[in-house]
Amino acid sequence: MTTQSAEQTRHLMQSGDRGAWSLAALTVALAESGSEEQMRAAVDLLGALGIDVRADLGELDRAGAAAQAAAPLLQTAALVSGDGMLWAGQSNEALLTQGRASAQGAAAFVQFGLPRLPGLAEALARPGARMLDIGTGVAALAVAYAELFPELTVIGVDVLPHVLGLAAEIVAASTVADRVVLREQDVSTLDDEAAYVLAWIPAPFVPPGALRAGMPRLARALAPGGWAMVGHGKYAGDPVEDALSRFKTVAYGGTALNDDQAQQMLRDVGLGNVMTLPTPLGAPAITVGRNGF
Ligand SMILES: C[S@@+](CC[C@H](N)C(=O)[O-])C[C@H]1O[C@@H](n2cnc3c(N)ncnc32)[C@H](O)[C@@H]1O
Repeated sequence: MTTQSAEQTRHLMQSGDRGAWSLAALTVALAESGSEEQMRAAVDLLGALGIDVRADLGELDRAGAAAQAAAPLLQTAALVSGDGMLWAGQSNEALLTQGRASAQGAAAFVQFGLPRLPGLAEALARPGARMLDIGTGVAALAVAYAELFPELTVIGVDVLPHVLGLAAEIVAASTVADRVVLREQDVSTLDDEAAYVLAWIPAPFVPPGALRAGMPRLARALAPGGWAMVGHGKYAGDPVEDALSRFKTVAYGGTALNDDQAQQMLRDVGLGNVMTLPTPLGAPAITVGRNGF
């Protein structure tokens, strides 16, 4: 007799296999990273899924989308291979891919976030403007912000020396090397004051203790009128989606926050104008708060 769990397990293995290989096909086709035969077969598979990768993909950035497709494959491979999944143990390729995927956040921020945040567009455009990028990783997001805002200097902070080594290479190879500054530091020891018009922190990657200790410091680091922006999971009540977000966060070693918890955290450190912004499918939830309001 087949139990319901056995049936569901078979179903999951079939749909998961299909999902993993379809993401691999998307990566190969968009990054043009396979042999000609592999690319043709990948394009065919995507075609069968209703995706013409040779057509205009509209607002999707091809390199960013390729990285976004590859990132879960590389990260889950690290988890299931038994290497553990702590960020420190990720391969360079996984770190660089996650960086490229996260860099799409800068353009998405300009499209979805900036128009909703009073005063920020002007502040980011002012000569001498500074942004804080906590958990800067390989600095792909920091570089993307600096490219989008020509007057902005981005201070990228991370705890991992090895990752900061990769970041230094990426910054040096960019056109904005004079406006991205890297610093090895834990957010829980941040001591900048009134310095930044914008401060970003990705909660799913920052352990709960560091987040608790770091948030009041992050709030103090904001210039008057400056905005804090917290990335977090989407917990909209769908049991599978919510459990998936929690599982990823546990694997990353970070903090699971829903919209209400993220909003409360920002109010608790004295920020005002607190709200959770709408973000596109596949992007993290983003909750913001403003200093002095
Ligand atoms: C997913 S990565 C960010 C990717 C990044 N946007 C990029 O462009 O590569 C998250 C980073 O947060 C860092 N992190 C985790 N806890 C931290 C803490 N307490 N203080 C500072 N950085 C931290 C991790 O080391 C990791 O590099």
